[in-house]
Amino acid sequence: MQNLDKMKNFINLKDVPAKDLRKILNDAKKRKTARKKLNNLETDKGVPLKGKLLIQMFEKSSLRTRLSFYLAIKQLGGSTLTLRPDELHLSRGGESIEDTAKILSNFGNAFMLRTDNDKKLDEFKKYLSIPMINGLSPSSHPTQILSDVFTVEEIKKKSISKLNISWIGDSNNVLNSLIAASIKFSFKLNIGCPKKYHPNKNILSYIKNNKNKVHLYNDAKKAAVDADVIFSDKVISMNDKVNKIKKLNYFKKFKIDKKLMNFAKKDCIFLHCLPRGTEVDEKIFSSKQSKVWQQALNRVHVQKSILLYCFGKLR
Ligand code: CP
Ligand code: NVA
Repeated sequence: MQNLDKMKNFINLKDVPAKDLRKILNDAKKRKTARKKLNNLETDKGVPLKGKLLIQMFEKSSLRTRLSFYLAIKQLGGSTLTLRPDELHLSRGGESIEDTAKILSNFGNAFMLRTDNDKKLDEFKKYLSIPMINGLSPSSHPTQILSDVFTVEEIKKKSISKLNISWIGDSNNVLNSLIAASIKFSFKLNIGCPKKYHPNKNILSYIKNNKNKVHLYNDAKKAAVDADVIFSDKVISMNDKVNKIKKLNYFKKFKIDKKLMNFAKKDCIFLHCLPRGTEVDEKIFSSKQSKVWQQALNRVHVQKSILLYCFGKLR
């Protein structure tokens, strides 16, 4: 039986208390260390989610999120089932989100949704009686960024609050979550992005109403100065309905290359949630400064602790 009182959703970083985010990271660190010698499908000691089923649904493509949640729940002793929306009555036969959510709640123990519409997260939340995790929406990608904070601290061996973080790229879902993280974890964030693509009004007022640690530049070099970490992401996100050639043109001066990295600290690392586009030069992407593979793998560890948080079982 699930303890409904203790269950929590993980939908947006801004809605999760900072102390809980820190608890998730601490748990992930312990778990990662404890299973160094185990194979991918071997379970963690204590199998804390034994018998639990995570249902995943992807309305958009995914490689990393899909695989990392698969391993995450398996390592905790549970299992997962992935639904394709094009095979459900929800999208083909007009079945309501309400009825779908009730079935998901009766059959499964947690629901992870990657959606093309933020309103669906609200709708599902209304009717689900099991925890829901946002596996990327048009406005955020919280599991990615929490895991990225873990990666930064793992590599830099310091609290992220002591580091200069830069984002060079589009104002998208991943950046929105990074902004939320900068407020929760209190780190300095410099954003380099063409003016036309700066974050929208809601995000700007969120930044303004919180501590003044986020700075926006219309110049990649200014944003990269003294950076400990440079983040980027594709200029064209999934379902980005824009004139692609025009948008890519605006970003020509925002490419992460050697010249740009030289404005950052000598030991600056490069992170990218993947998949990549043309925003990063191959030489940087495949250099020692690039930690993208470690970053991708860490999603398993952090998502395990996110799952435990959702089930009210965080140590
Ligand atoms: N970074 C990330 O979420 O990758 P996928 O889209 O492959 O899941
Ligand atoms: N901003 C990207 C992230 C992919 C993981 C997108 O939404 O397509």
